Amino acid sequence: MEVNVIRNSTKKEIKNKNAFVELLRNSPIPENELLSNLPLYIPRQDFTHILLVNEIYQKILNTPGVIMEFGCRWGRNMALFETLRGIYEPYDYCRKIIGFDTFEGFIGFDEKDGEQWGGC
Ligand SMILES: C[S@@+](CC[C@H](N)C(=O)[O-])C[C@H]1O[C@@H](n2cnc3c(N)ncnc32)[C@H](O)[C@@H]1O
Repeated sequence: MEVNVIRNSTKKEIKNKNAFVELLRNSPIPENELLSNLPLYIPRQDFTHILLVNEIYQKILNTPGVIMEFGCRWGRNMALFETLRGIYEPYDYCRKIIGFDTFEGFIGFDEKDGEQWGGC
């Protein structure tokens, strides 16, 4: 299966990402150690994403409220938010994490989006 979820990726980057996937699928690491060794298989861009979400989370630490993600797809950010909540504010029971998705991809524009975005 081809993996190409990075936008603006070069062919080399796509090839490398596919190689990471193959390495993970064929990993010799025992199952009970696999999750702890995931850094072996995380491309730089995806690790950068994790660092970015961490940085964003730190900015809300003194701000009460919930976290909402509009368009959560598989839920990677939801999982990161939950992990970061556990690290930074494990006793904040008001910090709910809420995700929305169509689970059908982008389904079109609303009239309110206007002509610029393909609306009426
Ligand atoms: C590019 S993905 C990003 C997923 C996620 N933020 C991430 O970083 O992994 C965009 C997601 O938005 C969802 N989506 C698109 N239009 C939507 C809408 N109008 N309402 C809710 N979800 C929407 C799609 O189904 C898709 O899962």
